[in-house]
Amino acid sequence: MTIGEFNSKFRSDLTELYSKKEISSLFKIVLENTLSFDITKFYLKPDYLLNINELTKLNKFKDELKTGKPFQYIVGETKFHNYKFYVNNSVLIPRVETEGLVDWILSDNRESKTTAIDFCSGSGCIAVTVKIERKKWDIFALETSKKAIELAKLNSSRYSVNVNYIHADIFSWDVCGEFDIIISNPPYIAESQKKLMEPNVLNFEPKKSIFVSNDNPLIFYKRIFDISRLKLKAGGRIYFEINPKFKSRLISLSKKYQFSNYELKKDIFKRNRYIKFQK
Ligand SMILES: C[S@@+](CC[C@H](N)C(=O)[O-])C[C@H]1O[C@@H](n2cnc3c(N)ncnc32)[C@H](O)[C@@H]1O
Repeated sequence: MTIGEFNSKFRSDLTELYSKKEISSLFKIVLENTLSFDITKFYLKPDYLLNINELTKLNKFKDELKTGKPFQYIVGETKFHNYKFYVNNSVLIPRVETEGLVDWILSDNRESKTTAIDFCSGSGCIAVTVKIERKKWDIFALETSKKAIELAKLNSSRYSVNVNYIHADIFSWDVCGEFDIIISNPPYIAESQKKLMEPNVLNFEPKKSIFVSNDNPLIFYKRIFDISRLKLKAGGRIYFEINPKFKSRLISLSKKYQFSNYELKKDIFKRNRYIKFQK
């Protein structure tokens, strides 16, 4: 089979699951990751005859895509803020929206002695990126999934940075230390929003990373406000990624915890996605 013929088969096999544009970018990813072929080479040599080994690898990737598995899990890594992060099905795939949270933290806070904690750290994308960019900071990252912590440690090692991982459930964590900065992108999608979500998210990404109950969708934020009342230093800041749907409820809640000094920011899709509180 030539690579041009494989391209036609790839398109017809994935057409029910993805748009034309998505298939084109997936094709590019498949070529790069299985054959180290860039797309220009494909355009120059559509008659390139695939050997059996190459064809086997391409078909395996295509068959996994056909199940709806996100390509990041197939490749085993993704890009976040110009860095590559290992991912697997124990962690949420870092989202482009979350890069905006990291940008805000970095533009607000220069390099100087700072102690920060990232609650619900998953793959470590936030904590590791901040540590790469702010070498003098002491960074802690708390996460309940042991497998996620193992993966996050690989991500820290990949960039030779030291993040202090805490394996704990945020709700039973025996709070210790004091912090200048508290960061979190916790689970924030209400169960009732499930029906709006893509099947590849629902079927493949860990539910514990995503969903909160309809009755108490701000449960993680409440707990973090509780911790912040005790452990955030005066003048310290909290940076949250939020569900735009719960923006007003979160602001009302913050007042109860006496965190009334806040600033909102929109993500690249112009949705209210981040909020900062100052103590
Ligand atoms: C939305 S993901 C965010 C992951 C990562 N910070 C990011 O931005 O990609 C939320 C994370 O919270 C973790 N988590 C869920 N319940 C938790 C709990 N009770 N205590 C600590 N972490 C929890 C999940 O395992 C998941 O890794």
